[in-house]
Amino acid sequence: MVTDQEIKKSASSIIRAKKVVALCGAGMSVESGIASFRGRGGLWEKYNPEEYGHIATLQNKPEKAWIMLREMSREIMKAKPNRGHLALAELEMLGRLSSIITQNVDGLHHVAGNKNVIEFHGNMQSVVCMKCGDRQPSIEINIDDSPPRCKKCNGAFKPDAVFFGEAIPSDALNHSHFESKTCDLMLVVGTSALVYPAATMPEIASSAGAEVVEINPEATPLTGSVSDYILRGTAGEVLSRVVSRVKDLLAAGR
Ligand code: OAD
Repeated sequence: MVTDQEIKKSASSIIRAKKVVALCGAGMSVESGIASFRGRGGLWEKYNPEEYGHIATLQNKPEKAWIMLREMSREIMKAKPNRGHLALAELEMLGRLSSIITQNVDGLHHVAGNKNVIEFHGNMQSVVCMKCGDRQPSIEINIDDSPPRCKKCNGAFKPDAVFFGEAIPSDALNHSHFESKTCDLMLVVGTSALVYPAATMPEIASSAGAEVVEINPEATPLTGSVSDYILRGTAGEVLSRVVSRVKDLLAAGR
């Protein structure tokens, strides 16, 4: 259990900071019912990421890649923002959060109300035909098709997400670099910090002098090195408590 003292310390850091940026990962959406990748019961326990998550599989055996994508899509379609997402939306509304760099493809930060969201790994809200490039909202396709195919040319669809073997879209990469370099507080929420280049963002922030605060029930490679400290709890619990404390401090004029 994260103590009130720890919550207060982070809330005070947020109040003091000129620019706060959050880097989020799959742990952010666990309380929305979306399994993480590397945790117990996670997607990569069932599917080998190098195989199912690789662009080459989607291009050469789309029906195989869509076995995993179908499972992911179903979870995402059912999911709603949890109190952690809502807390970050409130923080942005309060003018205390500059942007979110998210590795998640579920779009839940947008649904929660955040406006400044960098989708580092793209999203699952739309699909693009790998043959003719036609783009469609995901709700318009039948995910039970194996694989879902374009009505215009019969090419297989690919979600607008980044797969292993693909580059990060340059806009997202450049914008994330800028936000990381120019913040003075980075909240690192629910990421194992194992996947690069997303995992370099806390290092960039820290090297530029920012305080780095992790929110995660488990330690990560950043803990005790790049991170200044870790709040060992879930995103929903910790973020809602921190933002509530931020509001108290603002109301008290501190
Ligand atoms: P991971 O599955 O690697 O890590 C999830 C992290 O969330 C772990 O550190 C958990 O301890 C933590 N966690 C679990 N439950 C939590 C909760 N309720 N609140 C807070 N934290 C919790 O997910 P990512 O770090 O996001 O890439 O993975 C990075 C990338 O690897 C993904 O974007 C995806 C994957 O391969 C692509 O698809 C390109």
